[in-house]
Amino acid sequence: MKFDINTIREQFPALSLTDEGKARIYLDNPGGTQVPRQVLERMQHYLIHTNANHGGPFRTSVESDKVLEEAHQGMADLLNAKSADEIVFGANMTSLTFAVSRSIGRLLKRGDEILLTRMDHDGNVGPWLHLAEDLGLKVKWLKFDLETYEYNLDEAESLFKNGNIKLAAINYASNCLGTINNVKVLTEMAKQSDALVFVDAVQYVPHGPTDVQDIGCDFLACSPYKFFGPHQGVMWGKAEILEKLEAYKVRPADNFAPGKFETGTQLHEGQAGTLGVLEYLEQIGKTMGAEFQEQFPEFSGRRKYLHAAMLAIQDYEQTLSLRLIEGLQNLSGVDVKGISAKKDLSRRVPTISFTVKNQDPEEITRKLAAENIFVWHGHNYALEAVRLMGLEESGGVVRIGPVHYNTLEEIDHTLEVLKTCW
Ligand SMILES: Cc1ncc(COP(=O)(O)O)c(C=O)c1O
Repeated sequence: MKFDINTIREQFPALSLTDEGKARIYLDNPGGTQVPRQVLERMQHYLIHTNANHGGPFRTSVESDKVLEEAHQGMADLLNAKSADEIVFGANMTSLTFAVSRSIGRLLKRGDEILLTRMDHDGNVGPWLHLAEDLGLKVKWLKFDLETYEYNLDEAESLFKNGNIKLAAINYASNCLGTINNVKVLTEMAKQSDALVFVDAVQYVPHGPTDVQDIGCDFLACSPYKFFGPHQGVMWGKAEILEKLEAYKVRPADNFAPGKFETGTQLHEGQAGTLGVLEYLEQIGKTMGAEFQEQFPEFSGRRKYLHAAMLAIQDYEQTLSLRLIEGLQNLSGVDVKGISAKKDLSRRVPTISFTVKNQDPEEITRKLAAENIFVWHGHNYALEAVRLMGLEESGGVVRIGPVHYNTLEEIDHTLEVLKTCW
């Protein structure tokens, strides 16, 4: 079966809701996605049948621990991690990054340099700025080209070559521009300088196959609530580095990964729900990803299906990107802030930000909201990106963010409504 949007949509109860006769159009997905039934069923089942704290010898605790182990293994499959012990769950990407940044800080010393980017969400900037302030580290910034909306790799290379960079915090896909960055090449450059590499993949994981071993980075963070799961964060870390790092933890907690980084009692039902989303994606890989499965000859079972599913999703989403970008470009005064050429759409996710001449982004999102079309505006925490584009004072951008459950009809309807907004 090819990608079948009707089958997909049937699995998301929220997608069929209406308000005063108007269908909900969810284009707010870079801020958080809706969930398929498997997530709801897994969470409900967890809370009814296996709700318990970790490590007890009695039935609920034993079964609860089994769910947590499965969730770690499932995420290892999604990210192609070597082991489930490399998967750390937490409240969200930002909290995990703040926590591990303190541990990484113990490997750094005054005067060391760290590389941050002007494109990333503040979740992969703020924690490192605090660390730099606390330890007296120097911050180097990698900016992006204001015409191509991509990094200049020569500039990146020169920053690594002419410095003392010990840690690079880089982003996979931008939550503002939609650019997919070549994190593998950036990681190779960083590794020539022996720098640790922390990849923010929050906006990439919902849109494409992720392979931490292929990238070669040391850490990669994502958020299940951005890829159709519950409000959770996940950080992958290379086993030998997680082992080496000293975790900020209470004394009775585990001394080994991932437990030493999973502070306090975790959101067990959230991990159960994450397992549900992996089951959903696996099913897509099995039923709609046949033509993509052969691209992963080294994987088998769930790992293969998950990666094939993400390619099937990526393929479909490019049709949404194209329709949306072309439609926006036909509207008067619109300036799309991101890669727009048809031939380059594989280098972007379908998160499309734009400005309109003499129009307030917030006003546009309010008008869309009145038609039950949900989109975001402002800087969306991509503070540095919006500043670099000179848009902070004027209210940032309007951001339309489809995912694989959105339809071309929804895009067309949104474009029709936009025609009446200014
Ligand atoms: C690219 C990117 N990084 C990090 C984050 C922060 O994620 P979380 O809400 O899980 O802390 C977001 C959230 O929007 C994001 O888009």
